[in-house]
Amino acid sequence: MDLTKPIDVRLLPMRRRHLPAVMKIERDVYPGPWSQGIFVSELNQKLTREYLVAKAGSELAGYAGLMMCMEEAHITTVSVGRAWQGKQIATRMMTQLSFSAIRMGAEAMTLEVAASNRKAQSLYFKFGFHPEGVRKGYYAETNEDALVMWCRDIRTAGFAERLRSVVLGIKGMTRGFEAPCAPPYESTESAQSAQSSWSAQSAQTGRG
Ligand SMILES: CC(C)(COP(=O)(O)OP(=O)(O)OC[C@H]1O[C@@H](n2cnc3c(N)ncnc32)[C@H](O)[C@@H]1OP(=O)(O)O)[C@@H](O)C(=O)NCCC(=O)NCCS
Repeated sequence: MDLTKPIDVRLLPMRRRHLPAVMKIERDVYPGPWSQGIFVSELNQKLTREYLVAKAGSELAGYAGLMMCMEEAHITTVSVGRAWQGKQIATRMMTQLSFSAIRMGAEAMTLEVAASNRKAQSLYFKFGFHPEGVRKGYYAETNEDALVMWCRDIRTAGFAERLRSVVLGIKGMTRGFEAPCAPPYESTESAQSAQSSWSAQSAQTGRG
């Protein structure tokens, strides 16, 4: 596969069979990786969790997840294999998680990110997250501080518009597992082009 070209990506609900590939990325990109047991436990909490994987061809290129807590969606992980970084895979996964958060009833999304992780922070800024606090020494393995970022008012037309413009900026096709549920996906020309680069199929038919 030519990695300099835009790529097509399929987003699928994470299943146990994905965990060997997930763990390979997890151990490679984090100094304090989650254990496989943590992923299994997360996948078992079906009512409050949403985990997805991104596939490029037959390869699992990344994964992401959220945990619902009252009306807040906590983004628990966003991870892309080193070979696949810079191909808008995290952007697509965050878009899908935003759709899921809205569907699951969230009013806001929040996450922690290492203070030095500028790349991830730029990703989150694109979705409208802002730092609202610091957790000192949050990451035990490095003793690094975490920024606590929030993206509020995700059920508004303003946020829907933001998502639309993110989708329009994605090069290559994305097949998500849930239709955009936010209002601006209507009949404007730009909305049609957003739809043409992002298609949805039901979670039940998705196979990793
Ligand atoms: C952070 C991470 C998830 C980004 O994944 P990715 O698929 O490469 O990200 P994308 O290609 O979708 O890029 C998203 C945004 O990140 C920023 N970004 C991407 N690559 C960058 C780079 N090399 N330098 C600076 N910013 C960068 C840009 O703002 C980009 O948006 P743009 O393309 O509209 O400018 C990925 O690098 C990763 O998995 N890192 C290790 C794990 C991690 O740190 N996860 C976050 C935990 S909070």
